[in-house]
Amino acid sequence: MKGLILSGGKGTRLYPLTYTRAKQLIPVANKPILFRVIEAIRDAGIRDIGIVTGDTGPEICETVRDGSQFGVDVTYIPQAAPLGLAHAVKISRDFLGDDRFVMFLGDNVIQGGISPLIADFANHEDWNSQIVLTQIEQPEQYGVAELNGEGRIVRLVEKPKVPPSNLALVGIYMFDHHIFEATDEIKPSFRNELEITDAIQWLVDHDYRVYPHIHQGWWIDTGRPDDMLTANSLVLEELTPEILGSIDAQSEVDSRVTVEAGAEIVNSVVRGPAIIGRDSRIINSYVGPFTSIYHHVVIENSEIERSIVLEHSAIRDIPTRLQDSLIGRHAEVNKSTIRPQALKLHLGDHSRLNLL
Ligand code: DAU
Repeated sequence: MKGLILSGGKGTRLYPLTYTRAKQLIPVANKPILFRVIEAIRDAGIRDIGIVTGDTGPEICETVRDGSQFGVDVTYIPQAAPLGLAHAVKISRDFLGDDRFVMFLGDNVIQGGISPLIADFANHEDWNSQIVLTQIEQPEQYGVAELNGEGRIVRLVEKPKVPPSNLALVGIYMFDHHIFEATDEIKPSFRNELEITDAIQWLVDHDYRVYPHIHQGWWIDTGRPDDMLTANSLVLEELTPEILGSIDAQSEVDSRVTVEAGAEIVNSVVRGPAIIGRDSRIINSYVGPFTSIYHHVVIENSEIERSIVLEHSAIRDIPTRLQDSLIGRHAEVNKSTIRPQALKLHLGDHSRLNLL
């Protein structure tokens, strides 16, 4: 079997963080989501992985390289424009050949990995496709499945205004080569994309064997900032804590905290689950639960909780606690020490600042 990861697309819902960076490279619990996806596929025993890339392809290639750091072989498949998930499959035909494959959306985070799923599909050679569904509260933002009384798929519909069920399509799909017949036949959707949902419906309509698997754990599509914070919290909950950096005698660090190599905690309180990245410094500060501080960050005389701070940023002398925040790379948040003490902002396009 092969793996196909979709890392193209525009990431508009995560602006401004994704103006200059691939959304799949934003870390949750200090590891880029794309790395988590590669590792999940590798852990299921697959070595040959294709990555579909768009505008942010160069950054992805530079970071993932040939895949050897993960123990896999990576082939890059450039997609000229984000014309849909089924379009991404279509342009990957040379890479996939006649092999069965798992397609994993590069912005999805799922509990428990995919090894059992891959084993299930491998053990059923007569299955043409297997899809993953999960029960959620607002299915209208996703592909939605309708099953019959025997649990077989009747209908799949992309982002329906009136969802036929609360079973959303998780971004993990398994196919054999018959999927190319479908991607050749379907037409662009209301959002002008070749939808994988329509391609699977085509398989169902043409009597191919498509089986659903109902996922019971958590699953997050990290399309929006709050999804990113939720994914971060869920992954932090499952992290095995490790202290590699230094903690001074004046600091109080919870047992569910990871402190990476070269990080320093000075006269501070850190409550887990949380992670402090390599070479970051927490000085006279409070870092609360569900916070990921990436590498080379400084937090000084400040309080922060349930947030993600990316590399080389600095937060200093903030009078109120930062919460539910996503702070980009090389960002600075501080309080002026000279009068007049007005708010002085350098906000990028689409930034959000909620003042008390
Ligand atoms: O996350 C699950 C959902 O993913 C499913 O429930 C939907 O049925 C499915 O259509 C998809 O919906 P989204 O609207 O969330 O897809 P999005 O445009 O965010 O793209 C998902 C990933 O695929 C993302 O990492 C970008 C990448 N992508 C997307 C497009 C449209 C590509 O590589 N190429 C593309 O052309």
